[in-house]
Amino acid sequence: MSEPTKLRWGVLSTAKIGRKQVIPALQKSRLGEVTAIASRDLARAQQAADGLVIGRAYGSYEELLADPAVDAVYNPLPNHLHVPMSIAALEAGKHVLCEKPIALSAAEAEKLLAAGEAHPELKLMEAFMYRFHPQWERVFELIAAGTLGELREVRGWFSYFNDDPQNIRNQSDLGGGALMDIGCYPISMARFVLGREPVGVLARVERDPRFGTDRHAAAVLDFNGGAVATLSCGTQMAPGQGATIAGTAGVLRIEWPFTPPPEDSVRMWLDLDGATEEIVVGACDKYTAQADRFAEAVLNDQPVPTPLADAVANMRVIEAALRSGESGRRVAIG
Ligand SMILES: NC(=O)c1ccc[n+]([C@@H]2O[C@H](COP(=O)([O-])OP(=O)(O)OC[C@H]3O[C@@H](n4cnc5c(N)ncnc54)[C@H](OP(=O)(O)O)[C@@H]3O)[C@@H](O)[C@H]2O)c1
Repeated sequence: MSEPTKLRWGVLSTAKIGRKQVIPALQKSRLGEVTAIASRDLARAQQAADGLVIGRAYGSYEELLADPAVDAVYNPLPNHLHVPMSIAALEAGKHVLCEKPIALSAAEAEKLLAAGEAHPELKLMEAFMYRFHPQWERVFELIAAGTLGELREVRGWFSYFNDDPQNIRNQSDLGGGALMDIGCYPISMARFVLGREPVGVLARVERDPRFGTDRHAAAVLDFNGGAVATLSCGTQMAPGQGATIAGTAGVLRIEWPFTPPPEDSVRMWLDLDGATEEIVVGACDKYTAQADRFAEAVLNDQPVPTPLADAVANMRVIEAALRSGESGRRVAIG
C-alpha cells in the first residue's frame, strides 16, 4: 500500500504548547508532518527548528505564510493574535488550526467565521483537543443508552497556579484571565455534553489587583429545559480538574476531562443504583488524534470535526460570563 499524502504543517511561533506538546504530536501523527516554524526572532525559530528537527525556520510569521511548502498553519499565538493571524493565514491560502479561546470577543470570532466562509476551500478549526480523547465516545455511549437518565447538571472545574506577570495569561491586553484560558474548557464541555447552547449565565468573577485579569470565576449556565452547568476556574489555585455529569438515573464522574495524560489510561466512575462502576479508557495522545482528524478533513475534503460556529458560540458564553461578573446580574445569551 502506498503512504498516505501528508499534510504539511507550519507553526506560528515558538509557543511552549507547540514546542512541548503539539509539534511532537503533529510529528507522530499518521497524516501530518511539520515543515516550518516561525518566530518574531529568527535565532529563536532556528533553535526550535534544530531541537525539534523541523526543516525550515523563519524570522517572521509572514514569511512562513508565504511558504508554498506549508499546507496548514497551527496558530498557538497569544489570544489577541488568534483572529488576525488566522485570517492572514487563510488569505495566504493555508488551512488553519487555531488555539483556544478562538478570539477576544464574540464579535471578533464572527470576523474569523466570515473569513472562513469566504474561503470554503480551506479548513478552519479551534483546537479544543480534549474532545478527541476516546473517553468522550464512552461518555456519549452512556448518554445515548439512557444510562444516566435525563441530564440535569454538568459540573466542570479547572485550575492551576501561575502569578508570573510576564505570562500571557496574566496580561489583559493579550487576552489573559482564567475564563479565557481555562474557563473556556468547562464551558465547551457543558455545551458538548448537552448538545445545545445556554440561554443565560450568572457568574462571580474575582480579578487580580495587579494584573486586572480574572483569577477566579464561578458560573451557572442556564440551558433551559431543566439542565444547568456549574463551572469554576482559577489561575491562582492548586492545580486540578474534573467533571461530573448528573442525570435523573445516574452520575458520571470524569477524572481528566480536559488534559488527560497521553501516556496513561484514564478513569471515570459511574454511580448507579447505589453502586459505583469504574470505567477505564486506554491511553491516547489527544493532540495526535486531533491532528489526524484535522488532516483527514483536509485530505478528503470533509468538514472539520468541530465547525468554527462552535468556537463562536463558546466565545459568546465566555463573554457573557465576564459581563455577568462585572454587573453581578444574570446575562442572557443569544
Ligand atoms: N490546547 C492546549 O492544550 C493549550 C495549552 C496551553 C496553551 N494553549 C493556548 O496556546 C496559546 C499559547 O500558549 P503558550 O502558553 O504556549 O504561550 P507562550 O509560551 O507564551 O507562547 C506564545 C508565543 O507567541 C509569540 N508571541 C507573539 N507576540 C507575542 C506577545 N506580544 N507576547 C508574548 N508572546 C508573543 C511568542 O513566540 P515567538 O517569540 O517565537 O514569536 C511566544 O512564544 C494560547 O492561546 C493558549 O490559550 C493551549
